[in-house]
Amino acid sequence: MAILVTGGAGYIGSHMVLALADAGEKVVVIDNFSTGFPWLLPPNVAIRGGDVGDAGFVTSVIEEFGITELAHFAAKIVVPESVSNPMLYYGNNTAKSRTLFETAIKCGVERVIFSSTAAVYGDVSGDPVSEDILVNPVSPYGRSKLMTEWMLEDAAKAHGLSYVILRYFNVAGADPKGRSGQSFPIATHLIKIAVQAALGMRAKMDIFGTDYATPDGTCVRDYIHVTDLAQAHVDALSYLRSGGQNAILNCGYGRGFSVKEVVDVVKAVTKVDFRADIGPRRAGDPATIVAKSDKIRATLGWKPKHDDLEEIVAAAYAWEAKLKARNA
Ligand code: UFG
Repeated sequence: MAILVTGGAGYIGSHMVLALADAGEKVVVIDNFSTGFPWLLPPNVAIRGGDVGDAGFVTSVIEEFGITELAHFAAKIVVPESVSNPMLYYGNNTAKSRTLFETAIKCGVERVIFSSTAAVYGDVSGDPVSEDILVNPVSPYGRSKLMTEWMLEDAAKAHGLSYVILRYFNVAGADPKGRSGQSFPIATHLIKIAVQAALGMRAKMDIFGTDYATPDGTCVRDYIHVTDLAQAHVDALSYLRSGGQNAILNCGYGRGFSVKEVVDVVKAVTKVDFRADIGPRRAGDPATIVAKSDKIRATLGWKPKHDDLEEIVAAAYAWEAKLKARNA
């Protein structure tokens, strides 16, 4: 029995691989290395370079290792890019997932953990979002993921697959042991940009909009430590192995921080008073997205260990400093 992790050399996938390897599981990674790096992975993990949309390649890996479980991370994830190039997202995230699931079913895979996103909810009112509200994604990225959720649900009904779909909120931080972190050179996410500003890798950062209907006027998000997120996947796997029902679960802590609060924490943790200018709103940003997180806690018995914004920021900062030194 082995677990196939697609996109396992990427940011979140590599943390899942570390968590599985730490738990003594047999893990196999497939990655096309478009945004992933093999050096993030432990040496005892098998890595095969290739594409999830290549049925022949995936079949050969499943057969080579006797795969029975699949954790599907490989995806494009940049919301504005999905708006300007939607077919890239429907091709990469939706069509290739269709091929992957079809191949997995043909090869007898029994359990699937799928990486979905809070972007499936669309513009929400500001209250913590529960899994059963009506989904209404507003970006091609969110839609490409929602369609994949639907394919998985239908495939499970028809073919007896079992699955857990995890809807990620704002993932941040890095492995506490310093083995992996967000390594793609083009940063778009708030905490990575702020720690780069603190490290002098950029002259300044911008705060996108201060006129939102939130306590300080800046957007509020539910930042989850990537190591807690990886643990949620490990817990989901144990849950399915012990006969748990198919489930869709939010991955967030259930509390939000504003952009200004995050910037203040980054300045306090790094002890650098970097320049943060007030800029205009960024297109498509909802004011507040916070998870309702009681379902994942109750269903999986998930107990986050890193629910602390200072710890998340400190880990992201340490990783960015390491990357900076590596690339110097
Ligand atoms: N922000 C800034 N300045 C920056 C970068 C970000 O002010 O330089 C702000 C954004 O405007 C937003 C907040 O910080 O208000 C968080 O932005 P991120 O880009 O870090 O994350 P998003 O909330 O936009 O996106 C995240 C995931 C997406 C997912 C989405 C679902 O990264 O993959 O949540 O809501 F689709």
